[in-house]
Amino acid sequence: MGITVNNNLFTIHTKNTTYQMKADDKGFLLHTYYGKRTDDTDYSYLIDMKDRGFSGNVPQSNGDRTYSLDYIPQEFPVLGTGDYRVNCLQADLGSGVKDCLLVFDSYKVLKGKYALEGLPALFAKEDENVETLEIVLRDYYEEFYVRLLYGVFEETDVITRAVILENKTDKDINISRIMSTCLDINKSGMDMIHFYGRHAGEREMERTPLFHGITEIRSTRGASGHQQNPFVILAEKNTDEDMGECYGFSLLYSGGFNIQAEVDQTHQTRLVMGIDDSDFSWELKAGESFTTPEVCISYSDSGLAKLSHNYHNAFLNNLIRSTWKDRQRPVLINNWEATYFDFTYDKLIKIAEEASELGLDMLVLDDGWFGKRDSDYSGLGDWYVNEEKLGCSLKELAERVNDMGLMFGIWFEPEMISEDSDLYRSHPDWAMVVPGREPIRGRSQLVLDMTREDVLEYIKKRLFAIMDSANIQYIKWDMNRSLAAVYSAKLPGNRQGEVRHRYVLGLYSVLEALLERYPDLLLEGCSGGGGRFDAGMLYYSPQIWCSDNTDAIDRLKIQHGTSFAYPMSTVSAHVSVCPNHQNFRVTPFKTRGICAMQGTFGYELDLSKMTDEEKDMAKEQVRTFKQHYRLFQFGDYYRITSPVENREYTAWEYAAKDGKEACLSVVFTDQHGNPTPQLIKFKGLLPEKEYRVLRDNEEVGRYTGAALMNGGIILPVPKENYDSCQFYASVEQI
Ligand code: DGJ
Repeated sequence: MGITVNNNLFTIHTKNTTYQMKADDKGFLLHTYYGKRTDDTDYSYLIDMKDRGFSGNVPQSNGDRTYSLDYIPQEFPVLGTGDYRVNCLQADLGSGVKDCLLVFDSYKVLKGKYALEGLPALFAKEDENVETLEIVLRDYYEEFYVRLLYGVFEETDVITRAVILENKTDKDINISRIMSTCLDINKSGMDMIHFYGRHAGEREMERTPLFHGITEIRSTRGASGHQQNPFVILAEKNTDEDMGECYGFSLLYSGGFNIQAEVDQTHQTRLVMGIDDSDFSWELKAGESFTTPEVCISYSDSGLAKLSHNYHNAFLNNLIRSTWKDRQRPVLINNWEATYFDFTYDKLIKIAEEASELGLDMLVLDDGWFGKRDSDYSGLGDWYVNEEKLGCSLKELAERVNDMGLMFGIWFEPEMISEDSDLYRSHPDWAMVVPGREPIRGRSQLVLDMTREDVLEYIKKRLFAIMDSANIQYIKWDMNRSLAAVYSAKLPGNRQGEVRHRYVLGLYSVLEALLERYPDLLLEGCSGGGGRFDAGMLYYSPQIWCSDNTDAIDRLKIQHGTSFAYPMSTVSAHVSVCPNHQNFRVTPFKTRGICAMQGTFGYELDLSKMTDEEKDMAKEQVRTFKQHYRLFQFGDYYRITSPVENREYTAWEYAAKDGKEACLSVVFTDQHGNPTPQLIKFKGLLPEKEYRVLRDNEEVGRYTGAALMNGGIILPVPKENYDSCQFYASVEQI
């Protein structure tokens, strides 16, 4: 039993963790425990009640000055209760003042996992032991209800949370802040690990101590963004990959978000996470409800690797729905860095012919195939094939490609509109522009108003028409700017604060319709690389283009950061040409292959211009990737060294869940004269078994799992800048 309830004490157990709350005798829902699995003890005895001074007392305290929500750990703190810490809800219930006072109303335990209408959410697999706990709070004075939902995934050690607000009063309620989750932890001194970046440099891991005050990670861009990611970890000081306590928080949302961690006056830590509230308001009319995005939380007492495995397992098993999630993904060639906008039928066919020779599986036609689109100044919105440029219809092109034994995929950027487009000329009001003001442009384009039904209908109509016109098995769904001057002509001035969230709901509804109509479509998310790499998108797309930066060495940090929350089979990575187009670095072809194999693996260069030696290496890379495919997709991923901390080399490993095989890759990032020996240790093997170890397909010895994990193995000396090697250890082959 995952959930037990005893006298309003709610204890949730997963395989290795326990989470507990209590509705106390005054009606407040306290948070009493989250950590290593324990028993059903009522942990509210750990709350140290004292008159702290200047901390408000709610009416229910009946004059007891030691009872203040200002330091009592809570499940869902709100503004206006004398708790001055960061909160989850700011609601004006009609008085003009943003305060409400939530007390316990009722609860339900249900089999299976709740779903959220119009929003991504984890789901239970058939026969999986998943339960839902619903706790209802209500305002002490008004018929305003807050339903707290908990999804309990026992096996994967994750718990989901979401909130539904219900206005059962007869007046409108104005919501100006609604977070999806809060976690109060009765200690301080923890580090926050978060993932910051920029275009072409996403999700670099940063670890900083929390101080007394508020640490904030936020995106105000209307998308989750390149600059911050809606995933953070709180870790004890001594926590590393293999040991120590840590908590993970992932928001399943692709719009702007806000994460705040506050260390308070009594040295407790509170983390809240939800929709960005910097430009948010929501008019909740009488009888209406509002659902927040879901948060997926997890706890590990054995380090960051275990925390990542919890997320990887949960996202692979319970979030990604695509029929592709268990299927071998095609190794693709994308023409973007090969041709940019400058392609012809002949160029594409040449690339496809080479791809077929090398054993690749799919050609992806990137930007530039539609409307008037020879640069990024025009054409967006005109989703009609430019047959003149293509030299044939899309159907003919796809057929030709299919005849070579390749699948065919295509690029779209449906949320955008160019001012130089037929669509803009006929529907200027479909673009988000504040009336009477010049638009704020990004990449010279405007954003379509995704809150409008007519816009969504147009996008679906054109997408479906193109899809139906040819054998298209893959779509790369791009989004190449952040939102700014966000405005919808369909909403009154006082409701413009709803636009950003309604935009995300509109996007999700189109993605849902697309996948419903084409369930076998392989959808790859993209936003100028990894600008929308979040768990919300994974609900629709089983893989996401990780970064526009294809340099193998820069990718080490980007892919390392991405790996903390997201399974590596979702990380789209390609081999590209050298000098690299983004940073002009030259790296060995071999290393580029090894780095791309860290993710979904593919190519993005003019294959017809490769040397014979490169072609042979590419064939070998494709063969290796396909040979170890199951290991890469279903194995446990280990960060062996960190590119942020180790200047010498970066290493990572995939170990089969049964421990019988592993692939460990190493990329040297520095080299020296008179090199000193470098040892590397495997993880996740069976100590008592003997493994045959290959390095770059040559046997280097036979060792026990214990030896490989505790003694390790000596790395070769790098022979050139950014050299690399790949070890494969297997019990089976002996
Ligand atoms: C940004 C993407 O990340 C690139 O891979 C490419 O598809 C371009 N957009 C096309 O405009």
